[in-house]
Amino acid sequence: MKWSQFFNTSIGKKLLVGATGFFLCSFVIVHLAGNISLLYNDRGESFNAYATFMSHNGLIQFIAWGLKVVILLHAVLAIQLTFKNIAARPVKYAVKPGNKTSSWFSRQMAFMGSILFIFPVVHLAQFWWAMHYGTNVPVVTYEGSAHEYRDLYLVVQEAFKMPVNVIIYVLGMIGLSFHLIHGFKSACQTFGLNHKKYNGIINFVGVWLFGIVIPVGFALIPVVIYFK
Ligand code: HEM
Repeated sequence: MKWSQFFNTSIGKKLLVGATGFFLCSFVIVHLAGNISLLYNDRGESFNAYATFMSHNGLIQFIAWGLKVVILLHAVLAIQLTFKNIAARPVKYAVKPGNKTSSWFSRQMAFMGSILFIFPVVHLAQFWWAMHYGTNVPVVTYEGSAHEYRDLYLVVQEAFKMPVNVIIYVLGMIGLSFHLIHGFKSACQTFGLNHKKYNGIINFVGVWLFGIVIPVGFALIPVVIYFK
């Protein structure tokens, strides 16, 4: 069987969803680590220096465009798999299997995935577009440095002064939490990593790191900026 044929099968697609999912898991860790500098009390110097470096480094820009392709691929394949699963089960179960065969998180994947599909569109339009193509982003300089930065820090601060944005981000992060709790475990299972020996650590990382630390960390940024 050719690779192109393999990736058209359900198992091929599942492997691609898992692999792209792992890549996105590593992205959220790096993205949160960079965004924490939004909370430093330095009038945005660290954050603007970080954002400028990220948007001017050739290798990072190459990875950043790859990231957008990966997000699309992950979403499209996951949607295809969901429809394939529904089509394979044309007659609804007389008795809903409920918690016996699938967790609540796994049954909410498509719904949470849709929230997560809307969130990046709103998010990229707000910040990424402003950074790269926005025409009304002011330029800022800092004492002791000749560098001029596009003041993305100010764009973020202004955005999170609006309660509606804070609500969108907090809801988005609740969606992210549910999605990652199930998604991380499911990707580990797809790659055959679920084994009595490793299930404890997979559960711990899935729930604590991807379900709590990362989404709460992201959600705290708009909340702290709003109340500052
Ligand atoms: C409070 C939460 C967040 C804040 C303040 C934030 C902030 C930002 C900013 C300022 C940018 C533009 C940086 C640049 O282009 O140089 C950006 C880009 C981006 N963000 Fe976020 N972000 C947050 C959460 C998230 C989450 C949860 C995700 C995904 C699940 C995400 C995905 C992305 C992506 C894909 C980009 C484009 C990266 C690139 O092309 O360079 N962000 N974010």
